[in-house]
Amino acid sequence: MSQLDVTTLNQKFAIPGQLEFTEDESGLIIARIANKQAQSTISLQGAHVMTFEPAGEKPVIWLSPAAKLVRGKSIRGGVPICWPWFGAHATDSTFPGHGFARTVPWQVVASEALSDGSTRITFELPQSSIPSAQLPHACRVRNIVTIGKEMIVELVTENTGQIMFEIGEALHTYFAISDVDKIRITGLEGCAYLDKVGDWQRKTQADAITITAEIDRLYVDTDSDCLIVDSGHKRCIRIAKRGSLSTVVWNPWVEKAAKMGDFGSDTGYRGMVCVESANAAENVVKVAAGATHSLHVVYSIEKI
Ligand code: BG6
Repeated sequence: MSQLDVTTLNQKFAIPGQLEFTEDESGLIIARIANKQAQSTISLQGAHVMTFEPAGEKPVIWLSPAAKLVRGKSIRGGVPICWPWFGAHATDSTFPGHGFARTVPWQVVASEALSDGSTRITFELPQSSIPSAQLPHACRVRNIVTIGKEMIVELVTENTGQIMFEIGEALHTYFAISDVDKIRITGLEGCAYLDKVGDWQRKTQADAITITAEIDRLYVDTDSDCLIVDSGHKRCIRIAKRGSLSTVVWNPWVEKAAKMGDFGSDTGYRGMVCVESANAAENVVKVAAGATHSLHVVYSIEKI
């Protein structure tokens, strides 16, 4: 199926009162979900969730006020999909950081109003969006997003070829927080991590994480839920994952954020933290011929 225009997408996949497609001034198409439980916007470029706001709640997902929607560029904030590798490519530094999936067009293949009142939309990476030099393997990749009281994102990789291949991946989720001083992240106590700020040294997390400077850590061998405990917003964000053994915690702090140029004001970094459900470093995934691998994450709110 080739890329559909906004009129055809609405004819085939809109759900009255729940889902419609609009075109942004940049020419990118956005899926807009609004049901009784929540609202969300998702860019078809990257199958990239940009916003998620449960009814009566503050936004759960952070989208930079300076985020730019540009063809071929990743959006700062939301839930970028890092695939089929995480970070720098292992052998070729000319390949894009975090893989190509976040900057190429995806197509919509299904939409559904579920009986519990939530709305599901399924995206697929078309063959035409896969640069064969960067991934010379036959595969089918879907991102299945369910928007309700909770948000569920499931990234499914199916090996449709004859030989095993290996992938790194992450749902690189940016969370909206009251202030970086008012949060702590639990669930990673006792885990080993590679500290990118400390030259990739291997360390062990002692206690809950508090953030007072740049942080860029890749925790390995962990399938634990993480909680962002936010005393300012009087809530916890729970991140519950399956099919993921790495978790990345990232906040660029003031200087790196300023260099990126798309973080908004010079205090923009204070309102966000990334807690990424990933498979990276020693946790990359081997997908056997004919096998399917799923990275499944549920994002929910708990009051405190
Ligand atoms: C994180 C990495 O996952 O993504 C960081 O651990 C990186 O090192 C960050 O800076 C943002 O990456 P990008 O490519 O979206 O600017």
